[in-house]
Amino acid sequence: MAVQTEVDHQHLARAIELAEQGRGRVSPNPLVGAVVVAADGTIVGEGWHDAFGAPHAEREAIAAAGDHDLHGGTLYVSLEPCCHHGKTPPCTEAIVAAGISRVVVGSDDPTEKASGRGLGILRDEGVQVDLAEGELVARARLLNQPFRKHARTGRPWVLFKSAMTLDGKVATETGDSKWISGEDSRARAHEWRAQCDAVAVGIGTALHDDPQLTARIEGVHRQPRRIVFDSDARLRLDSQLVRAAPQVALTVVVSRAARRTATEALETAGAEVIVATGENEPARVGSALDQLGARDVTSILLEGGPHLAGAFLDAGEIDEIRLFLAPLVLGGRSARATLEGEGAEAIAGAMRALTLDCEQVGEDLLVSARLREW
Ligand SMILES: NC(=O)c1ccc[n+]([C@@H]2O[C@H](COP(=O)([O-])OP(=O)(O)OC[C@H]3O[C@@H](n4cnc5c(N)ncnc54)[C@H](OP(=O)(O)O)[C@@H]3O)[C@@H](O)[C@H]2O)c1
Repeated sequence: MAVQTEVDHQHLARAIELAEQGRGRVSPNPLVGAVVVAADGTIVGEGWHDAFGAPHAEREAIAAAGDHDLHGGTLYVSLEPCCHHGKTPPCTEAIVAAGISRVVVGSDDPTEKASGRGLGILRDEGVQVDLAEGELVARARLLNQPFRKHARTGRPWVLFKSAMTLDGKVATETGDSKWISGEDSRARAHEWRAQCDAVAVGIGTALHDDPQLTARIEGVHRQPRRIVFDSDARLRLDSQLVRAAPQVALTVVVSRAARRTATEALETAGAEVIVATGENEPARVGSALDQLGARDVTSILLEGGPHLAGAFLDAGEIDEIRLFLAPLVLGGRSARATLEGEGAEAIAGAMRALTLDCEQVGEDLLVSARLREW
């Protein structure tokens, strides 16, 4: 049966809102929020999955209900409840044990061990299960794009971020790019770093900018893994990235051609080296993503530069783009554009965004576009 009433809509929307509280803390688990409503219609408990290894949202919401009688009550949850023993026991057991008689679910869980199994168990136990429809399902799925892509493809979800001038340039001919976007935009990018499992750049950016790629804002739960795409292992041992490797994870993606002495020196300095295979750059992007996904990296903030980002685009692996458009005009035939790679030959071959949003951030405009939906 589908979600019927305005009240159902409100409670499920609240569960989706609560799920957001876990962002940047639960990966590789999904974000989940839950609301428990007693038989008389009173909200008696709210909860969310707060950190990897911590109790699931359903258990938190049931616990928050304390001594309230939940018989005949309804649980609103943004994702189908789990039915397997992981780091915590199955939520289906807790729901049945609490006497809840109806569960309203925001979205499916595409992982193999879920995929409707929990809902089947609940129905077998006599619990009424209602599924959300339309806009609420879309919102519930949107919460968990990294989790969903990882579950369905084994690869991390990729968010490409770039700061560009009004004429679409990200660096001058000499490679100067500091700073195109303003302070507020840069602070926002640090938030995204904290929310993603990893941050990636190409060796061109690593050599030119010597970045740290850490999230330097208050309240960071866990620093993202830093990833450098560097076929020949040219990353300098005295770079900021390598120097911080003992404290913050660093992965260097090389090709088979990389010299062993260079890769061993990086490993000795504390970096992890993975070998991407494939005939060309987009294929090696795919190979790297498979290996990173197998290490439970579910989301990557791709920070460029244009050469690496072009290879990701050609590989069809950019899921969302967030561009800061700064009030600057650079000009210059040889200044660098946001995305290079092979690209499309005709406009008809361009990738069309599914959604387009715009927001003022300080002096800049932030344009966000979703390219793929999972
Ligand atoms: N405004 C902004 O938002 C922004 C952001 C980032 C960078 N930038 C600017 O962009 C410039 C650097 O960009 P860039 O395009 O020259 O370099 P890049 O994209 O950072 O790095 C490109 C290099 O990555 C290596 N690579 C390894 N595996 C790859 C793969 N599978 N696919 C593609 N490349 C792979 C290749 O070198 P090997 O084959 O030798 O490994 C390639 O030449 C700098 O000036 C920087 O300041 C601007």
